[in-house]
Amino acid sequence: LIKTGGHLSEIYVGEKWENFRNCLPARNTLIITDHNVRSIYGSRFGDFPVLSVEPGESSKRLETIEMLVTGMLELGADRSWFILAIGGGVVCDIAGFLASVYMRGLPFGFISSTMLSQVDASVGGKNGVNSGTIKNIIGTFNQPDFVICDPSLLSTLEKDEYLSGLSELIKMGLILDKPLLESVMENRDKIMARDTGVLKSLIARSVKLKAKVVTEDEKEAGKRMILNFGHTFGHAIEAASGQKHGLAVASGMLIACRISVQQGLLQAKDHAWITDIIRYFNLIRPFDLNPSILPEIISRDKKKAGKEINFVLLEKPGKAVIKKINLSELSEYHNYLNGWQ
Ligand SMILES: NC(=O)c1ccc[n+]([C@@H]2O[C@H](COP(=O)([O-])OP(=O)(O)OC[C@H]3O[C@@H](n4cnc5c(N)ncnc54)[C@H](O)[C@@H]3O)[C@@H](O)[C@H]2O)c1
Repeated sequence: LIKTGGHLSEIYVGEKWENFRNCLPARNTLIITDHNVRSIYGSRFGDFPVLSVEPGESSKRLETIEMLVTGMLELGADRSWFILAIGGGVVCDIAGFLASVYMRGLPFGFISSTMLSQVDASVGGKNGVNSGTIKNIIGTFNQPDFVICDPSLLSTLEKDEYLSGLSELIKMGLILDKPLLESVMENRDKIMARDTGVLKSLIARSVKLKAKVVTEDEKEAGKRMILNFGHTFGHAIEAASGQKHGLAVASGMLIACRISVQQGLLQAKDHAWITDIIRYFNLIRPFDLNPSILPEIISRDKKKAGKEINFVLLEKPGKAVIKKINLSELSEYHNYLNGWQ
């Protein structure tokens, strides 16, 4: 249960997604999904009207919202309707935003169907779309009434999509919970086999951690910043190489760990342990990061303050700290992972 600004959001981890009808209010419900999810699971959606978008990040733009608004008007949707998103982070971000602005707001819920959205994206009430190359620049904070995270949905995910989400789960352990990391390593074979029992407990733990941070800091004024661990370089790598978000973040996390060692915070043995975890799951992909693009990407970073940036570092596994780092210092690390594999 997440409570922010008086709004309760219920998160069900391990619930069978097909039971979603039990969560729906007595209202007309519209399902928003993408074509991939619809083609795999659509036959089990029931009789609800469905609007489906092109899969992928390029759908996260205002034109998609306008297209969905047109579709909703054609269906006769009014304020008494409920929006149910079934999909990954893209679908949930789009549907959460649509629900926040259509007729000034409808209630909504999510069935999260990717690892990334189960461990991270669907908890926290952030939603929105991109503008040009700037991610999530138009959006709202608005909590869904419920989120269903059913790990059995993850069996059909493409491998790199799965690993990308796993990276965000590892991030939660790195910043807040060393035992979570230990559990990830103990269960590594089952994780690779996508064992739903193990995934259920790991995802539930990650959701609880994120829920706690979000409840304490809904609007990202302070503590929530630690969730951005690995994301400064991660975003730069994602933009430069087109890597999947979580995989780019894995590289960003290793760079942040390296900086943490350099700053005298993280011990070398802990750095080596973290590197082993990331290496075991094969989360690093080659990238070529031109240091000249870094200042521009970082300058758009919401964590920037003048010539310095609030950078998330690690003191030890399970404990993140925020330190101001000079922007020029950061570009020294752009090629730290070159030839790493
Ligand atoms: N709101 C937040 O707090 C938050 C947090 C993190 C990330 N995000 C956003 O999430 C987005 C990324 O989310 P994502 O990684 O879930 O990507 P995604 O929604 O694009 O899904 C990845 C791919 O997997 C497919 N897919 C989804 N579920 C599937 C399933 N069960 N089986 C087979 N294929 C399936 C999709 O069609 C898509 O092609 C980004 O836009 C990011 O900004 C938001």
